[in-house]
Amino acid sequence: MLWILFLSTILGLSSSLENGLVRTPPMGWMSWERFRCNTDCTTYPEDCISERLFREMADMLEVGGYKEVGYQYIIIDDCWLDHTRDKDGKLQPDPQRFPSGIRNLSDYVHKLGLKFGIYEDYGNLTCGGYPGVLGHMETDANTFADWQVDYVKLDGCYSDPDTMITGYPEFGRYLNKTGRPMVYSCSWPAYQIGHNPNYTAISEHCNLWRNFDDIEDSWASLLSIIDFYGDDKDKFGSVAGPGHWNDPDMLIIGNYGLSVDQAQVQMGMWCLMAAPLIMSNDLRKMRPEFAEILLNRDAIKINQDPLGVQASRILRQGYIDVYSKPILPSYQNKYSVAIGFLNRWTSGTPIRVSFALSELGLNHPSGYSAFDIFSGKPLGNFSPKSTFTADVNPSGFLLVRFNLLPGRIRKTGSRSEIGKLNLQFPGLTGWKTEL
Ligand code: GLA
Repeated sequence: MLWILFLSTILGLSSSLENGLVRTPPMGWMSWERFRCNTDCTTYPEDCISERLFREMADMLEVGGYKEVGYQYIIIDDCWLDHTRDKDGKLQPDPQRFPSGIRNLSDYVHKLGLKFGIYEDYGNLTCGGYPGVLGHMETDANTFADWQVDYVKLDGCYSDPDTMITGYPEFGRYLNKTGRPMVYSCSWPAYQIGHNPNYTAISEHCNLWRNFDDIEDSWASLLSIIDFYGDDKDKFGSVAGPGHWNDPDMLIIGNYGLSVDQAQVQMGMWCLMAAPLIMSNDLRKMRPEFAEILLNRDAIKINQDPLGVQASRILRQGYIDVYSKPILPSYQNKYSVAIGFLNRWTSGTPIRVSFALSELGLNHPSGYSAFDIFSGKPLGNFSPKSTFTADVNPSGFLLVRFNLLPGRIRKTGSRSEIGKLNLQFPGLTGWKTEL
């Protein structure tokens, strides 16, 4: 039996995806949230879904310093296709908007040292009404390989969600069969919300997958996604890891709907959740305060941590949600930890948070050095018993990296269960400060 398993693995016959890609969450840019299905290039030449848009964004990844910090994939979302297949049944792009063809665009992206991604749909039609892959899976996988595609997002409109358990793996097998490594992004569980998606199968067959609703350009939308992840009713958090990631959808930082603090919430949470960092914004018009958040190397380092563990929500108390993610370096079987404090309160004044480190599970006796990711400031060294105090802005985020300090263990046995925060609401004594 073991021999069969061994042989099938080395011959590449194994039915699961394991293509060796995205050992850390993918980073890049995608058109959908910001540019949608704008196909009117006469009225909107700069913003319509066209080869010009993707070329300009590829240029901007380079010029804006995004490539240097790890953003790599340029991904076309919906509405790139012509409404009909060609005479051989192959997909073809809209000839007016992509006159040079997809292979040409992919070459352009590759010449910049970037990678190229494309969108299709598992059903009869894409969500925007263009041809889907159903009935053409092998042809389409081969077409993508011919076009030197590196990443495929396969959406799930116009299909039967009950067939996804066989259909998504089938397309994945055709991708593998081409011999070209392509990241496989599935929307499978997003079409089964509330119906117990089979996350074991999903994580075996896809490199990443959308779990929940589309992100919109608003704080409300952002919070609803964060809460879906914090609640984690389907226990998808535990299946994330190198090569397979939950995808809470695109980064909307730099668009219209988030304040600078709220943008830090998204960046901080996406980094803690080991989420793909796929921006959808206009890099040509990025305000510097948002670029700074997107380019924050210390935040990205948490996202790209080789352990690949997705943060879990360890505490909710009085408008503050606490998320914790184990990261490297490790020492004597204990890990360093990144902790995020999300302040959901919109009552205009920061909340002061204080706690003994051991209350949040930071109990290694040799202690931790703390670093505030968004201010870029070291906060000093702490033992498990020391008190840590900081302010968290309204609808804002405090992201702290607690690096384990190597040292001789003098005693063990400090408490490890999660305890309580001490919260202060300055200027609001007597007001309702508990949820
Ligand atoms: C769905 C997906 C989005 C986007 C659109 C395109 O809504 O979830 O991310 O791809 O389709 O039509």
